[in-house]
Amino acid sequence: MNNRYPPLDYVPQHVGVIMDGNGRWARRRGLPRIAGHRAGTENLRRVLGAAVEFGIQVLTIYAFSTENWGRPKQEVEGLLSIFRRVIDREVPKLHDEGVRLHHVGRIEGIPADLSQRVREAIDLTKDNDGLVLNVAFNYGGRAEIVDAVRQIIADGISSEQVDARMISRYLCTAGQPDPDLIIRTSGEMRLSNFLIWQAAYAEFYTTPTLWPDFGKDELYEALKDFGRRERRFGLVPGAPVTD
Ligand code: IPE
Ligand code: IPE
Ligand code: MG
Repeated sequence: MNNRYPPLDYVPQHVGVIMDGNGRWARRRGLPRIAGHRAGTENLRRVLGAAVEFGIQVLTIYAFSTENWGRPKQEVEGLLSIFRRVIDREVPKLHDEGVRLHHVGRIEGIPADLSQRVREAIDLTKDNDGLVLNVAFNYGGRAEIVDAVRQIIADGISSEQVDARMISRYLCTAGQPDPDLIIRTSGEMRLSNFLIWQAAYAEFYTTPTLWPDFGKDELYEALKDFGRRERRFGLVPGAPVTD
């Protein structure tokens, strides 16, 4: 029995992570930003293992936003090569561990060789029943909502049929529970276009720790903190729900 991590009373079903601070991590060490992205990617393995151990069912990681294309070409290219390598190296292992991979974001905007790898990884792991890992790559919450609205119109759905449940079904996370907890590293306190629809009632946890240094202990802390929150969903605690 490992009492460093006593069982948690409430484990969030779905956790979203804004993996921020790679660049600062590298700069503090006098290294190029890309070294921070490499360290951040290595860290993902650790956090993923811990997420499985703590009983999280869906983990959404923000890897690259629709806005991140605007970074210097060298950094974008470096990130793309890291993703290629990570997919080649990690997907077979993840598959063995029963992880089901899912992409959130616009797959069309991703270079063809990379999007092909992503499609193959999704197909390979589609029947797994372990943790669902949503990789938000070329993801932006606004773009996701724009695409949903376009598809709703293309499907000829009438305005009376549109409600929040329907919009959720047109998002990349269709069929999944909304995130219960959003964690952001590096001390920033904003969503930066991450799951803006789905996180409507998510709890928010921020830590000054930079992503490459965010480990199992801190994930446990975040989950413990989540367990102490009172989620109200706009209601009055203890009062009967009236329609
Ligand atoms: C997050 O780290 C990773 C990506 C956005 C791809 P950053 O690269 O944003 O690191 P900082 O915020 O500049 O330190
Ligand atoms: C959000 O971080 C995107 C990812 C972590 C992939 P950013 O570093 O891009 O966000 P801002 O620019 O600080 O809002
Ligand atoms: Mg950042």
